[in-house]
Amino acid sequence: MALNVVIMAAGKGTRMKSALPKVLHRLAGTSLLQHVLNAAAALGGGRTVVITGHGAEQVEAAAAASGAAFVRQMPQLGTGHAVQQAVPALDDRHAITLILNGDVPLIRAETAAALVQACGGSQLALLTIELADATGYGRIVREGPSVRAIVEHKDATPAQREIREVYTGIMAAPTAWLKRRVMTLSNANVQQEYYLTDLVALAVADGLTVVAAAAASDTEVLGVNSPLQLADLERRYQRAEAERLMEAGVRLADPARFDVRGRLDCGSDVEIDINCVFEGEVRLDDGARIGANCIIRDARIGAGAVIHPFTHIEGAQVGAGALIGPFARLRPGAELGSDVHIGNFVEVKNSTMARGAKANHLAYLGDATVGERVNYGAGSITANYDGANKHRTVIGNDVHIGSNSVLRAPVTIGAGATIGAGSVIGKDAPAGELTVARARQVTIPGWHRPQKVSKKV
Ligand code: UD1
Ligand code: MG
Repeated sequence: MALNVVIMAAGKGTRMKSALPKVLHRLAGTSLLQHVLNAAAALGGGRTVVITGHGAEQVEAAAAASGAAFVRQMPQLGTGHAVQQAVPALDDRHAITLILNGDVPLIRAETAAALVQACGGSQLALLTIELADATGYGRIVREGPSVRAIVEHKDATPAQREIREVYTGIMAAPTAWLKRRVMTLSNANVQQEYYLTDLVALAVADGLTVVAAAAASDTEVLGVNSPLQLADLERRYQRAEAERLMEAGVRLADPARFDVRGRLDCGSDVEIDINCVFEGEVRLDDGARIGANCIIRDARIGAGAVIHPFTHIEGAQVGAGALIGPFARLRPGAELGSDVHIGNFVEVKNSTMARGAKANHLAYLGDATVGERVNYGAGSITANYDGANKHRTVIGNDVHIGSNSVLRAPVTIGAGATIGAGSVIGKDAPAGELTVARARQVTIPGWHRPQKVSKKV
């Protein structure tokens, strides 16, 4: 159902002690605001309005990038005042307006959708939760089963402070009623703020039914106010991701030492050792094994491939059965075929390596096309950059590049060629032949090392 979504994000976030606006801090690699925008988008469209204030320009740029509208709230006179600013931007064609918080990032779209359903366009629906320690929260005041009001902690009587059911800051209201009634809020309270929560008493006075729906878990309604709370939510998020993968059969060495900052999709019998970070979109095919301390971003790892520890992969494809690392670096455009071997301190960028090609030690392959079964010797590099432009190196099938060679691109090494160790190859090397380009070895007979002259005192 199309609806209006208001995301409150004008607050300062003083306790973050950061120059960055609070809602732009990242959880699982994505800004808090973006998590909330994603939840809003998952609800199926309509209009989303972000309330900005502190750090407005940066927050507005983030909102605009997601296609959300924004209104600026200056100064910030409370949550009710924030929604007042959004009133002109709310679309009357959408009967329901959902209010979310920019600093409550893990709200699930399902929970928000259930709240919207509870509102139904004719009731005020509040998302609530029972907390053991409700300090600081607005308390849900009931008479019998019906909700009568929300009382802010600072305004609550000692008896009201005993209430454990609290308001999460998330509600769904009939749009037309909200637009009219939010303008009538007063700031006659301890904090002299316009409280959005006073809408509840107004609804009761208007004969509008107020319903409270409980959140499924506290994780989805916890707010971020400090680095400590941000880290706590990050771990909760990662734990949930780890559990989701383990339930699907992925073997994580330790779910507490595992991070996904994006989307990780795994086949069957995948194993992931400790301290790996997955960023962007990563796919691990059946039987892939990832060693400890790997960072893998926007990549596909083929079936049965083994990524040894301390490997860094970004924007690359690894074929089935390949062996990569330890200490390897695959950069964007590295496309490795099946059974390719990449060893320690080998860097591959914008290069294809066909089935069975090997670069096992201390090497660089940039802008290269490497054929099947090529053996690329230790210490060899493609000199792909002439100081102004990049050039390609083409290496045919079954080539053997001797250790410590420099292939000065553009250059082609014909199939089956052998390059002698230590060569600098600047001209094409013919197929099937041995090409050597280095000074010949000479021996100078009878040569003596210089002797140290002993000084007289
Ligand atoms: C609010 C609720 C409280 C609830 C709690 C849940 C009110 C009056 N109280 O309290 O019942 O239990 O959230 O966390 O609503 N904001 C603006 N402009 C403002 C003030 C706030 O955009 O002028 C934004 C903040 O950036 C934040 C959100 O609104 O994202 C909530 O504001 P905050 O000051 O944290 O409200 P609480 O006092 O925590
Ligand atoms: Mg708060």
